[in-house]
Amino acid sequence: MKVSVSKASLNSHALEAVGFFIPKSSKEKSATALNALAGVVATGLNGDFRANEGDILTLYPQKENFNPKRVIIIGVGEKFTLDAVRKGAATFATKIREMKLPKVGIDLTEVSAIAADLQEEEAYIAQAVVEGFELGLYDYNKLKTDRVQALKDRKHKSEPKFEFKELVLITTATSLKAVEKGAEVGEVIGSAQSMVRDLINSPSNYMTATDLANAAKASGKKYGYKVTVFDKKKIQELRMGGLLGVNKGSAEPPTFSILDYTPTSKPKATIAIVGKGVTFDTGGISLKPADNMGDMKSDMSGAADVIGAVEIAARLKLPIRVLGFIPATDNKPSGTAQNPGDVLTTYSGITVEVDNTDAEGRLILADALTYAIEKYSPDAIIDLATLTGACVIALGYHAAGLFSNNDELAEKLSTAGFRSGEKVWRMPLWDDYDKQIKSEVADVKNTGGKGAGAVTAAKFLEKFIGDHKAWAHLDIAGPSFLSMSSNGAKGSSGFGVRLLAEVLRNWN
Ligand code: BES
Ligand code: MN
Ligand code: ZN
Repeated sequence: MKVSVSKASLNSHALEAVGFFIPKSSKEKSATALNALAGVVATGLNGDFRANEGDILTLYPQKENFNPKRVIIIGVGEKFTLDAVRKGAATFATKIREMKLPKVGIDLTEVSAIAADLQEEEAYIAQAVVEGFELGLYDYNKLKTDRVQALKDRKHKSEPKFEFKELVLITTATSLKAVEKGAEVGEVIGSAQSMVRDLINSPSNYMTATDLANAAKASGKKYGYKVTVFDKKKIQELRMGGLLGVNKGSAEPPTFSILDYTPTSKPKATIAIVGKGVTFDTGGISLKPADNMGDMKSDMSGAADVIGAVEIAARLKLPIRVLGFIPATDNKPSGTAQNPGDVLTTYSGITVEVDNTDAEGRLILADALTYAIEKYSPDAIIDLATLTGACVIALGYHAAGLFSNNDELAEKLSTAGFRSGEKVWRMPLWDDYDKQIKSEVADVKNTGGKGAGAVTAAKFLEKFIGDHKAWAHLDIAGPSFLSMSSNGAKGSSGFGVRLLAEVLRNWN
């Protein structure tokens, strides 16, 4: 998506539509101003447009010298917040997609007042607008051919899909530089998030472990960072018993990808990000029920986030080294699959009793965590995983569970969560929970029984970080894949991309 910024007057833009954010508090004032500017009838607005979050109304300007063809007013609720701006921009973009308008604008002439009100940087407001617009524009339609309609219409070819061309942010001369900067960052983050959503929404027959590794390679090639992929043979040589155990039932070989963005100047820090790359989770021999099992194509959300985060670091040329680690496989039952009760030896040498083959994410993450720490000694290590249904029960769809052995890192993630709109909520890692994952036959067991399933999963992972002092685990099972997300799009939300971008951009 092309984003441009202009300080030319609103009147002068030949656009299909221009969007105006309208908070409840200044609804009347805005309506009067809009009428003066564009000649849009403001009377009767009261009933049809209450300026609530999610409200949107298309008006047709009557003023001779007003060039945009449509004025679209966007409710932001009581007052401006970053979330309201992002959601408003998303609502606007969804409307634009539905109306198939290729070039539209957003009025940001008031950006300095909004920024002052929110005690935010002007650039960040523009960034949030672009991120939100990209979110709302997103639509997973790769696999739709529209052949059904084409056949009905007796046409041989279906219509070309709508392609959005350009978003113009209209602002003042004084805010131009800041809006340009924010828009650029927003475009990088927004497009990375869309790419990540595409990976996650891809059905498992389009997203094998090899496909996932290829996606990492493609991103690395495009944006100039290094990607190394270990194949099954190399994974066997390394004795990654967790990854190999989960892969035992599969017809698809596993992959282990390492993404490496190193800045040209001496890095201020090295951050490792590990993502669960289960391309489809049937549960294995501990088979899942059939209802909604298809959603388990999203069990590689953490892995996709890793690709998105390293891509953003590379595109924004951040002054830190960002490493990504992706253990990938599907989890399938078959004659060769691992059985409940089997004992695996992980890469660390720690033995694990596989009490339930459906607790597979922690097995592949165990190997990746140990490997990343042993080989790269990162200053901090963060893993993201759609790890437990228990975390969905605890926090629902609006926040990820955060587990960390480091208060400073936890604080960084919490703050970044609020600012990026991808919230995390800290959960305990007390040793009290340890006895739940004690095994009779091995060093540790991969299940923790009934209580605190998200915590015992995190306690399991903790065993594999050795004495590392700055680890955080994000259980994104709730917010990553939604049957109904906030902007109305079902499927992947891309949760984690903006959060990681925010953390990495502010690293010090
Ligand atoms: N991928 C699932 C967790 C999940 C559930 C993600 C719902 C998204 C939505 C994970 O591999 C899993 O199956 N976890 C089990 C663990 C249990 C067997 C200890 C669970 O949560 O039921
Ligand atoms: Mn599972
Ligand atoms: Zn899983």
